[in-house]
Parts: sequence; C-alpha cells; structure tokens
Amino acid sequence: MKLQKNKQNVRLGSVVIPIHYQIILEPDLLAHTFKGEETIMITLAKQVREITLHSKDLKIMSATISFGTQSHTAKKISYDSKRETATFLFDQVVPKGKAKLHLTFAGILRDNMRGFYKSRYEVNGQERFMATTQFEATDARRCIPCFDEPAQKAVFQVSLIVPPDKVAISNTLPTDVREHASGFNIVSFAPTPKMSTYLLAFIVGDFEYLEKKTKTGVIVRVYTVPGKKHQAEFALSCAVKCLEFYNDYFDIPYPLNTLDMIAVPDFSSGAMENWGAVTYRETAILVDPEHSSTQTKQWVALVVAHELAHQWFGNLVTMEWWTHLWLNEGFASYIEYLAVDRIFPKWNIWTRFLYGDHGPALRLDALKHTHPIEVEVHHPNEIGEIFDEISYSKGSAVIRMLANYLGKDDFKEGLRYYLKKHMYKNAGTVHLWQAFEKVSGKPVEKMMTTWTKRPGYPIVRIREQDAHLHFSQERFFASPLSRREVTDTTLWNIPISFTGPRRSAQQFLMTKKNMIVPRTPGSWLKFNTNETGLYRVRYDASLLDQLRQPIKDNQLPADDRFGIIRDLYALSEAGDISAVVPLSMLPSYSNEPEYMVWVEAVSGLGRINNLYAGSSYEEPLRTFARSIFAPAVKLIGWKPTVNESHSHALLRSLLLGSAGAYGDTKVIAKAQSLFMARNRLAIPSDLRSVVYSIIARYGGEKEYNALLLMHQAASLHEEKNRIESALGHFTDPRILNKVLAYSISSSVRLQDRNGLIAGVILNPRGRKIAWTFIKKNWSKLSADYGEGWHLMSRMISPLGRATTKQEADDIKKFFKTHKAPGAARTIEQVLEQININHAWRIRDEKALREWLKK
Ligand code: BES
Ligand code: ZN
Repeated sequence: MKLQKNKQNVRLGSVVIPIHYQIILEPDLLAHTFKGEETIMITLAKQVREITLHSKDLKIMSATISFGTQSHTAKKISYDSKRETATFLFDQVVPKGKAKLHLTFAGILRDNMRGFYKSRYEVNGQERFMATTQFEATDARRCIPCFDEPAQKAVFQVSLIVPPDKVAISNTLPTDVREHASGFNIVSFAPTPKMSTYLLAFIVGDFEYLEKKTKTGVIVRVYTVPGKKHQAEFALSCAVKCLEFYNDYFDIPYPLNTLDMIAVPDFSSGAMENWGAVTYRETAILVDPEHSSTQTKQWVALVVAHELAHQWFGNLVTMEWWTHLWLNEGFASYIEYLAVDRIFPKWNIWTRFLYGDHGPALRLDALKHTHPIEVEVHHPNEIGEIFDEISYSKGSAVIRMLANYLGKDDFKEGLRYYLKKHMYKNAGTVHLWQAFEKVSGKPVEKMMTTWTKRPGYPIVRIREQDAHLHFSQERFFASPLSRREVTDTTLWNIPISFTGPRRSAQQFLMTKKNMIVPRTPGSWLKFNTNETGLYRVRYDASLLDQLRQPIKDNQLPADDRFGIIRDLYALSEAGDISAVVPLSMLPSYSNEPEYMVWVEAVSGLGRINNLYAGSSYEEPLRTFARSIFAPAVKLIGWKPTVNESHSHALLRSLLLGSAGAYGDTKVIAKAQSLFMARNRLAIPSDLRSVVYSIIARYGGEKEYNALLLMHQAASLHEEKNRIESALGHFTDPRILNKVLAYSISSSVRLQDRNGLIAGVILNPRGRKIAWTFIKKNWSKLSADYGEGWHLMSRMISPLGRATTKQEADDIKKFFKTHKAPGAARTIEQVLEQININHAWRIRDEKALREWLKK
C-alpha cells in the first residue's frame, strides 16, 4: 500500500528531459549559506503548463522559461517536501520542443554532510570552514534544483564565485578565472562529459596539493587542508598506477584530462567517486609515513582503486535506476582487489576479500530479513538503506564467482564490450549478463538470475556413500527458526569445485536439488576451492575428519583453511552442529601462518565468547582462548622485523590484541609499559590500536583521561579513530557513560560518532549502557543523522550483538514508537540476529559445559 504510493510519486517521468545545465554557485564561508543561478536546457516531449524537478531545503526565488522569442516567469512555485520536488506553474503553455529554464535560488551550508555542506578545519589554530558536496544517492537536489535521477544524464557547465585566496575545485579543470564585481573571483570550469547529477562536485576552501602525471598525460592531484600534503604521497602514487591499469584493462582511456582527489575532514562515507573530483574522508586517503598502520595503507589503496574503477563502471556507464546500484558498488568492490593485486602483488590482497566482503555477504544474506541484490526501491529513504553488504559484498562475491566461472579473458572482454556499448548512457543488470554471454557463449543470464533476483544463497551438503559423493542444496539460514518458517525452494546454479591432495580442481555446475558424482576413494577433499563460490559447505563427519591433517600441516591453501572454519562457526550458529565442533577444530589451526585465517578463527571465537559473557562460562572460555593464542604469540613477539610481509605485521597486531583481550598477563604488562614510555619511545604504528585497547580494557579513570588528552591533541585523523575505538573497551560503567557523552560532544566529528558508540555496544559490559544512551538521546541522534541516511543504520546494526530476549523485546518496543526512516530493514535484521544469538546460547550451553570441563 505504502510502497504503491511511493512508486507513483517518486519518479519525475519523461516529459521534461534535461540536456545541459549552466550553474553559478556562490558559497559564503563566513555566513554558511550559498546562492545559485542556473540555466537548464530542456526538451519537452509534449506541451506543458508546469514543470517539476527535484529540490530539497532550497529556496527558489525565481523561475523563468524561455522558448522561441518568448520568456515567462512562473506565477507560482510550490514545493512537495515528501517527493522532494519543486513545481513551477506558468500562465502560458510551454510548447513541445526545446526550452530554457532559468532559476535563482539559495540554501544553507549545513554540517550534515549531505548536499552542499560545510566542513571544519584549522589553519594555525584558527577555525575555518570549507564548502564541499556529497550528492549520491539523491542529494544533488539539496544544492541545485535538478532532475536528480541517474538516467537523466546531461552536460554541466559550472562557475564558482569564491574569495581570491580560496581554492575552487569541480569535476573538470578551470578554463577561466575572472574578477567578479564583489571582489571575489569567478572560476569557470570546462563542461563535464554527459553524466548523472549524483556525480557532480563543488569544493571551496584552503588547500595544498601534490601532483603527478600518468603515462598518457592525465594530471592527478591530491588535495589536503594546509599542513597535510606530505600525507598525500601514497594515495597519489596509487591513483596514477590505478588509472594506468584501468586504461589498459578496460581498453578505454580515462575521458578527462585531470583527476583530483580531495581529503575532506567531515565526510559521511569512506569516499565518493565524483567524476574527476573524487572526495575522501581523511583516513581513506592520507598515509603518514611514520604514524600510519599497515591496515590503513591497505585500506587507502583499496578505496582509491574502488573510486577510480567507478570512473568507468558507474560514471561512464551508469545504472538506469537505484535497483541496479549493486552494479556500481558490487563491481567496484570486486575490481578494487584486482587492481591492488596488480600494483602490490606482495600484499596478497585477495585473501582480504574473504573476510572483507565474501564473509560479510554470507553473514547478512543468511538472515530472513535480507533482500535480493536487485531490489525494488523508490523513495530516497529506501535508496539510502541499500548501500549495504548486499549491494557491496554479496554483489562483489557474485561477480567474483562469475569471473572465475568465465575465466580471466572472457570476463575482461565482456566488461570491455559492456562499457563500450553503453558509454555515456545507462544500463541494467541484464545488459551486463548479455555482454558476458556474447563474448563467452555461456548461458550467463540463466545462471546468474537466482543469485541477483532472489534473496539468500545455498548451503551444499555433501555426503560420501558407496564411492559416490551425494550433493544437495537448499537455502542457508543462520536461524533455525527462519529455516522452519520460510519455505524457499529456489534452486541456484552453483559452480561446484573440489580439490584433493593432487591439487587440480574438479568442477561442475550444480543445477538440481540433488546430484550424485562418483569419487575416487581414499584421500581428503576440500569443496568450494579457494572459496570462489558464494555458498557454504556442510561436510559429513568422515569428510570433515579427513580435513584436520591437511589444515594442520598447511597442505590446504589459506583460502580453503579459512573457509572450513568459517562454515563450521556458521553451521553451529544455525543449529546444525554444536559450538564444540568449531572450537575443537581450532587446535588444528595452531600452526597457522596466515593473518586472514586467524581473523576468521578469532572472530568466531569472539562471537561464541560474546554469548557467554558475564556467565560462569566466561572464564573457562577465556582460558581456552589464551591456550589457542599462546604458541603463536610467543612465536611472533612484539618487535616488527625489517621488511616483513603485510600479513606478518597484521598478524602480530591481531594475535597480541586477542591475547590481551582474553587476559594474557604478559601481553597486558608489555602493552602497559609501552604506553607508559610512549613519549620517550613512539609506539610502532601497527601496535597502537592493540596498546590503546588493552590500556582501556584494564584501565580506569587515569587511563581514560590520558587517552582523552591524546585524542584531543592528535592531528592525524587515523590516530583519533584508533583512540575512539579503544575507548569502548573500558569496563567501568561510569567511564563508559562518559565515553558515550563524549561521542556527542563537539570533540568528536559526526562522521566518527558511530565508531565510538559501536565500540561501547561491542563491549559486552557496555552494550546495555549504550542502548540506554541511544534511547535517552534519541531525538538528538535521529535529528543529527536525518532521514534515510546510511549512518543511522550503521549506528543501529551493532545492536545485533545482544544475546537476550529482553534486549530484543526492548528494542522492538522502542522502535514501535520511535521512527527511524530508512532503517526499517536494519532493525528487523538486528532483532533476527538477537534471536539467533539467544537460541544459540541456550542450545549449546550444556555441550559447552561438558567440553570445557575436559
Ligand atoms: N559511491 C560510494 C559512496 C557512497 C556511499 C555514497 C554511501 C552514498 C552512500 C563509494 O564509491 C563507496 O562505495 N565508498 C565506500 C568505500 C569503498 C572502498 C567500499 C565507502 O564509503 O564505504
Ligand atoms: Zn563505490
């Protein structure tokens, strides 16, 4: 019913088509307002009396339409705040054909990180503000009245009126700078390519930059606020290499002559792919040679590779509607790894895909309240909510599965075909499948439909009997309750693969519910080779048993070792096996050399530990955990070695952090001594998070004050974030309440607030305190986050860590009377997850007690 109404109302229709926008904007950095003037060339498919376009929080002063020799000013300008539109009513009929719409308007530079907004920074201790934009998905309309839909592509010609000492940046290079009557400069930029409104960008402030050219002469620059350009070097070199890689890979040269990348101090997501003027939060682009961690370096490389991939996949070819958002985000989230792997082959970056994307996709999509990759959306609130792990992570995992099935060459050729066919236009999911079909001759559309149009994914059960393997598939649910409730008979086309000791993988496409395949008896078999498929595997007991040894002696590749333990945890959560099974598998991992595999082992252990936090099982579980880490901790030690691999450096932080969290007294003491000595001897950047977290977990008032001072003094944003996540680890409720109060103070930027609140939620001793805080401060929090904004969902989702029915009931009750527009699905997911945790806790309690006794 509600959906129906949204559907009719929300699209602009196809009578008025924009062709070209001429835009003049004048931000006032002191009064925090802006004025604008715009001429839109349009084509009318039929004669009209009124014209409707998108506009939100803008005051439109005048609207004049010109056609032929005539010119008429709108008699009435009306706004529809639900549809986020403005309508101009003319007293003359405007005939079919070409016309020009001239508008003048004004708005406010808010601090909500949407539309045209202000961001705070300091120059020599003095507070300043820049004006900058974030338009995706539907916030261009907060800056300029426009036809704010991805398929309404047009050319944009922008001028910015700015004080002469400020830098003005937009999508293209300035072609002209002239003095404006007001004493300001008017900077005019070259026309953009034909593109969607969500890709426009305007930035005005104090900046310095580093610059480099690509082989083909594209100028690449990284802009930072004054004093930080030395942190731009790494991202700059990544960007140049990425552009060169994509030029070659897509076989289409980057279509602009410049690429600017701007570090913005207040930024709602990680980064935004505005064509030719990519914006980033500081932690996603700045790398300090001395103070940044290995984690940050990898993250920066991945984000740069992601946003630059969008310059082709997203900007050049754009989804026809937000239902196909996943094409943008899923694809970029896949190809970013491909690019980084080319640029930094030693990083072994693909291993990160499994815990960064593949795993999160399997987790979220195991809920009843998931959604299909291709999902019908209409209203901006619904659009904001799908920037989630389904679009990004499931999207990328599905692309990776297909890429493996097609093979490198057909995959690349298919992409080239797709991009060339649809460039400067829009496309949907089916167009991508058609491109792959064309080059490969394989039935791609048929194979992929269930993966993108249906929610969920399969679990493949495998049984060995009479020298045959028996396969069966069904939808996987993390909750035994959902599994009983939902009848889903979807059959997926699953690329099944398996490998034995002799290494060459066998493959077939499983299209039926059950299949039987002969097998050579004897040796072990690992299914879903390299975890390229988006499914889980349930081995029968004997097949599973045979895997222990190849795990132990690392005969199996890391991806496969990873997949086995991940699926065991998931099956235990789903009630298929007891938690004792994955836990007793852990000792097989004691020789594990690979960081990534440890991440998975540790995170599952953490989830089981979370179930029993505060109970009489907590201590025995902690003792068990310490026994798992002890040998590896001893081996890796505290001292980074020269030229060690990324995996090794990351593993050190992970192991020390985990050992410290589970109460290893030696590790705690060492962390404390490093902290005490920090002013004389800087803590190595990779160990800072570990040290700060341990300090908080085992500290009190004194440590809190020390961390707070460090937080305020830090100029590197990454350091601030490190301290913010550590603050959640205190155990004293009084301190945790202070941490929460601090999160909404002016010392913490709105973009970072969730990090602090999530830190407290993830601490079993802080969860209820944080929930009480959220309820109490709801009106402020919901006002700050605004409607339909992904930050709201991201604040709510960590509540899924709760483990009791009371918590679920309370959350449900609260949201019955408190609106969270755009977070409806997230709330359902949180409730479902809590019920899963609750059931898991009760179900496995007894088996765990018996097992821990041993
Ligand atoms: N297009 C998005 C930015 C975005 C996110 C706009 C959410 C509107 C809402 C951008 O390409 C992106 O995906 N950024 C990621 C980082 C990336 C490396 C996964 C982000 O911001 O988290
Ligand atoms: Zn993206």
